[in-house]
Amino acid sequence: MQLLPWVALALALSFPTHTSARFDSSQSSKGVQHRGAEVFYDDAYEEPFGAFLQARQVDQGVGADGQAEDGPGYQTVQPVPFQGSDELPYSPPFYPTPKTQGRTEKWRTAIGKARQYLKQFNQTEKVILTTGAGWESGQCVGNISPIPRVGFPGLCLMDGPAGLRGADRITSFPDAITAGASFDKKLIYQRALALGKEFKKKGANIWLGPMLGGLARTAAGGRNWEGFSADPYLTGEGAYWSVRGAQDAGVQATLKHYIHNEQEHFRNTASSNVDSRTEREVYLHPFLRGVQAGAVSVMCSYNLVNNSWACQNSELLNNRLKTELGFSGYVMSDWGAQHAGVASANAGLDMTMPGDLECCYAGQNASYWGRNLTMAVNNGSVATTRLDDMATRILAGWYYLDQDQDFPKTNFDFFDPLNPETNAHIDATEDHDRIARRVAAAGTVVLKNKKNALPLRKPRKIAAIGSDAGPLYQGPNYWSDRGGWPYGTLAQGWGSGANDYSYLISPYEALQARARKDRTAFNWNFDDFNYAQSQKVATGVDAAIVFVSADAGENYITVQGNAGDRNNLTLWNAGEELIRNVSAVNNNTIVVIHSVGQVDLESFVENPNVTAIVWANLPGSESGNALVDILYGDVNPSGRLPYTIAKKRSDYSADVIYNDPAITPQINYTEELLIDYRHFDEKKIEPRYEFGFGLSYTSFAYSGVRWSQVGSWKNDDWNGKNTSSGLPDWLFQPVYQVEFEITNNGGSDGHEVWQAYLEFPKSAGEPPKVLRAFDRVWVERYKTVTVKFPLSHYDLSTWSNTKQRWLRPKGDIKVLIGASSRKIKQTISLY
Ligand SMILES: *[C@@H]1O[C@H](CO)[C@@H](O)[C@H](O)[C@H]1NC(C)=O
Ligand SMILES: *[C@@H]1O[C@H](CO)[C@@H](O)[C@H](O)[C@H]1NC(C)=O
Ligand SMILES: *[C@@H]1O[C@H](CO)[C@@H](O)[C@H](O)[C@H]1NC(C)=O
Ligand SMILES: *[C@@H]1O[C@H](CO)[C@@H](O)[C@H](O)[C@H]1NC(C)=O
Ligand SMILES: *[C@@H]1O[C@H](CO)[C@@H](O)[C@H](O)[C@H]1NC(C)=O
Ligand SMILES: *[C@@H]1O[C@H](CO)[C@@H](O)[C@H](O)[C@H]1NC(C)=O
Ligand SMILES: *[C@@H]1O[C@H](CO)[C@@H](O)[C@H](O)[C@H]1NC(C)=O
Ligand SMILES: *[C@@H]1O[C@H](CO)[C@@H](O)[C@H](O)[C@H]1NC(C)=O
Ligand SMILES: *[C@@H]1O[C@H](CO)[C@@H](O)[C@H](O)[C@H]1NC(C)=O
Ligand SMILES: *[C@@H]1O[C@H](CO)[C@@H](O)[C@H](O)[C@H]1NC(C)=O
Ligand SMILES: *[C@@H]1O[C@H](CO)[C@@H](O)[C@H](O)[C@H]1NC(C)=O
Repeated sequence: MQLLPWVALALALSFPTHTSARFDSSQSSKGVQHRGAEVFYDDAYEEPFGAFLQARQVDQGVGADGQAEDGPGYQTVQPVPFQGSDELPYSPPFYPTPKTQGRTEKWRTAIGKARQYLKQFNQTEKVILTTGAGWESGQCVGNISPIPRVGFPGLCLMDGPAGLRGADRITSFPDAITAGASFDKKLIYQRALALGKEFKKKGANIWLGPMLGGLARTAAGGRNWEGFSADPYLTGEGAYWSVRGAQDAGVQATLKHYIHNEQEHFRNTASSNVDSRTEREVYLHPFLRGVQAGAVSVMCSYNLVNNSWACQNSELLNNRLKTELGFSGYVMSDWGAQHAGVASANAGLDMTMPGDLECCYAGQNASYWGRNLTMAVNNGSVATTRLDDMATRILAGWYYLDQDQDFPKTNFDFFDPLNPETNAHIDATEDHDRIARRVAAAGTVVLKNKKNALPLRKPRKIAAIGSDAGPLYQGPNYWSDRGGWPYGTLAQGWGSGANDYSYLISPYEALQARARKDRTAFNWNFDDFNYAQSQKVATGVDAAIVFVSADAGENYITVQGNAGDRNNLTLWNAGEELIRNVSAVNNNTIVVIHSVGQVDLESFVENPNVTAIVWANLPGSESGNALVDILYGDVNPSGRLPYTIAKKRSDYSADVIYNDPAITPQINYTEELLIDYRHFDEKKIEPRYEFGFGLSYTSFAYSGVRWSQVGSWKNDDWNGKNTSSGLPDWLFQPVYQVEFEITNNGGSDGHEVWQAYLEFPKSAGEPPKVLRAFDRVWVERYKTVTVKFPLSHYDLSTWSNTKQRWLRPKGDIKVLIGASSRKIKQTISLY
């Protein structure tokens, strides 16, 4: 819409508040100016604080930490006033939202089709594309209504990141933390491809995954297991290959949660305050990789960033995501993460979910958008070009995946799973058990293996001890969204990231089947607290396998007082006591741990009777089968820790904030770049097991590291390039190729996970080492393979907070190649 001069003037005079971005939560829109067909904000405009606070009280919802113990998910966010202060960090304004352009031919084609199709839509219909139909209005966890007049079939949005939530005849894939522990890009791709096929078969257009933030900044973070690791590069590759996999299956991938949703406590009220270098180098990187893989959507998170809601933070959405990363798709809100209509539209939000004013209950018939967005466009506070861009981005995503061509109709009903009219119970599983099992085995980490405890070789007698070995009495789906006492084997965490098991092979089932085959006598006790019985079954057996666990999840469910984030880092169900009792009577005690994240191993790790420790992460449906593959050596273990396990909790660099009386708690990322191994290296703290650590049944030698230059330096550009207009392609082109050899010099074939870290010159201010390449390679025994990987300008650069761009540090960069972040085998200098 071309604003007439008098309209612009009227707007400038009549709107009550706004708009430095510190205050960009305001729904109103003062300071708009007219520039061509765009409405944008005047950066210089500042409002006295009092007026701002008043407006916030009226207009804005800031969430209270409400708890819903049951029901299908999410909490209701009650509006409370924002407690602002000029002293607090703020986000600079960045307006307007860039119109989607498409950085690849495929995107440009999709955008072209979208623009063409959009010509048929009237304004109301464009608004329908942007506004979820409302909670329980439709068969999916999020729904965009069909628009029959133009033949648009609507969109079905579905959790969760490891399997189709609330549906049957699906696979519960290993959670992302397990996939991360495989360090295997191909497997991560195949997992997402299989998962994507299941979504498509069931008629779900949009996969609400992969989850990239939380990045396991804190060990106790409730949703860490939904993501891949505590390292940006590993998580970035998880993002890249997951997007490729799901989208190759024809399903739209969603990068979430953008950004800095690193803990569950206060996730609806706290502000994560992060300097721009830390954000670029650590938390933004996985999103960059997801965008490079062609991700069609991004979900903005619940929290505030620099005291501005993530879903209406123009710096994050308009600048970093849509300008700097050149993101061509659309941004959707997390469920209930929108807090204002006009401000979010102008800051770059494109779709509101589930569409209601508040999350999540049915029948509200009220939204910040919907009719409000129509009014806002009509009264000029949101430009028609902005509405067109929202709709274009959404339709372009649909075309990008060819979802206009014969996409299956939704044939399950998340809200009404027993309704025969809406549930066809189509089997989506195909042969996905094979890929689920492979990922679960590849993501199982052997931490300790003494006295040849593993692999098991046709033992005479074994026992499985602990509730984590067997099934839950009441069935695997007894707890809604898996949020309840884990008194059955733990194979996923709880919350919206969980799915219903169509089947679950417990360790007990798989072990018993294997024992039968080998004619091994097999006994068990699932009662964690009956120590006498545990000791009885553990006595006199060749191996006593103790199963223990630790659980966590999303904060709308509280389990044993854990409101999402874990309260402690110790094992649940008195696991340490159980291990102590069993190992007192059996000198070949094998401990298997299913866990959402780091636990304290100190009470048993050095006990000589604990001969092996197997870190099985969260393996999903194929849990038992994958474990037996590892325990018996059918699969040679190669899994590596996707985070560091410390000797004590205070060794980690950041922790969850559990108590804070402030209305807007401030979560300052003062550790900056130093999360996980970066911190342990920098502060010279000895971890129990470092990032990247894991044992094999064979052994490998590294040799012959060398490099060659494969691209020319773009020194001038690198030092002078203004990235505010998008990162240039050359930044990602390789400059060096590094090669080396891995020899399997042990007794059996196996995979080796190699890792390459960079050591920057001191003056660069980097942690001692940062991961830049890795892979999992198959090496037959006594054979040697050559490994090659590229390093780009980007890989070798650091972000300057003062210059606000990527810079090539001065001095010598070293490449460290190893089998973990501390087992460095080969070092070479790049100059
Ligand atoms: C948050 O504030 C810090 C400075 O305090 C700044 O470096 C960073 O870029 C800001 N981030 C956003 C998203 O505004
Ligand atoms: C747009 O089309 C819909 C039918 O899809 C109709 O109900 C609505 O009134 C139209 N709106 C406008 C503004 O023409
Ligand atoms: C929703 O609200 C609109 C206007 O406020 C009204 O016309 C419509 O009937 C309502 N729909 C329902 C289902 O309550
Ligand atoms: C418009 O938004 C306001 C909150 O800003 C809300 O109270 C109202 O119900 C919304 N109207 C509609 C029709 O959704
Ligand atoms: C324009 O419409 C929006 C949405 O209803 C409303 O929040 C805003 O106050 C309106 N502005 C004016 C100037 O009427
Ligand atoms: C840690 O939390 C779990 C789960 O609430 C609980 O079972 C366990 O007893 C706690 N550990 C300690 C040492 O308090
Ligand atoms: C076994 O557990 C019981 C109960 O906590 C405890 O009293 C006992 O000391 C434990 N036995 C050993 C050998 O640790
Ligand atoms: C180890 O196990 C043996 C039984 O095989 C037992 O006699 C011994 O006390 C145990 N040692 C420890 C440290 O628990
Ligand atoms: C365990 O103890 C038995 C004797 O009780 C001994 O024969 C066996 O070698 C020990 N096993 C290990 C793994 O130390
Ligand atoms: C976070 O940093 C701000 C200043 O940027 C400071 O005012 C606030 O007290 C800090 N909060 C905490 C919890 O450290
Ligand atoms: C980069 O370009 C933008 C827009 O062209 C400009 O506003 C900004 O000042 C430039 N930044 C630098 C560091 O040159």
